Amino acid sequence: MRKKIVAGNWKMNLNLNEGAQLVNEIFKSLPALNSHKQVVIAPPYLHLTQTASQLAGMDDVSLGAQNCHHEASGAYTGEVAASMLKSADVSYVIIGHSERREYFKEDDAMLAKKVNQALINEIQVIFCCGEPLEIRDAGTMNQYVESQVKAGLFHLSADQFKNIVIAYEPIWAIGTGRTATSAQAQDMHAHIRSVVAAQYGAAIADDTSILYGGSCKPSNAVELFACPDVDGGLIGGAALKASDFIGIIQAM
Ligand code: PGA
Repeated sequence: MRKKIVAGNWKMNLNLNEGAQLVNEIFKSLPALNSHKQVVIAPPYLHLTQTASQLAGMDDVSLGAQNCHHEASGAYTGEVAASMLKSADVSYVIIGHSERREYFKEDDAMLAKKVNQALINEIQVIFCCGEPLEIRDAGTMNQYVESQVKAGLFHLSADQFKNIVIAYEPIWAIGTGRTATSAQAQDMHAHIRSVVAAQYGAAIADDTSILYGGSCKPSNAVELFACPDVDGGLIGGAALKASDFIGIIQAM
């Protein structure tokens, strides 16, 4: 049975004190979750060891990172390797977020290498895909997203692919307050699942968690998460406020 996941991506927000406080507030109201439901908190790199010690012993909440470097180690000033994340108890890493693709020029080939580094270090990948508005308006979003998924992930073996979570995040919905309708999300998620099924078979596709991201909040999460192919969410802005994040976890 595939997992439902709500992952909070803090992006470049919160200092160490604010981060510690937010995690404490989330703990206070965290509902009990069964083993098919997972919460992930992905703070900035600087927070990881602090957040890891706060999460120690919490099975329901895993630590995530927002990025990793595409090489194993070396002279890459300012960068962080997947092996370092592993040593900080990171279980998930977000790869291919549209902000990384756009502002840091991360292309498909680099993202595929990042995926490899994560898996070599036994870190599960939350692989992001999603189209810009002009592609949505042109009606070619299925092909666009499909090619991102293929280029970033389809070099993996079936065994490796079991460690992949996909997050569909239409760029026009990220931080804009404009959410995809549940029908738009469901259509794309079903398409992604069919693409995965064609490559890896129906059983693996059925076990793959596909998250929705883009202006997800407590008020729309229930409807989005009720879609048969939407297995949770990757949450930006609403992950920075405990009551909102908890509301979304409750919707899962
Ligand atoms: P948002 O961001 O929830 O603030 O729209 C989502 C994301 O970028 O993961």
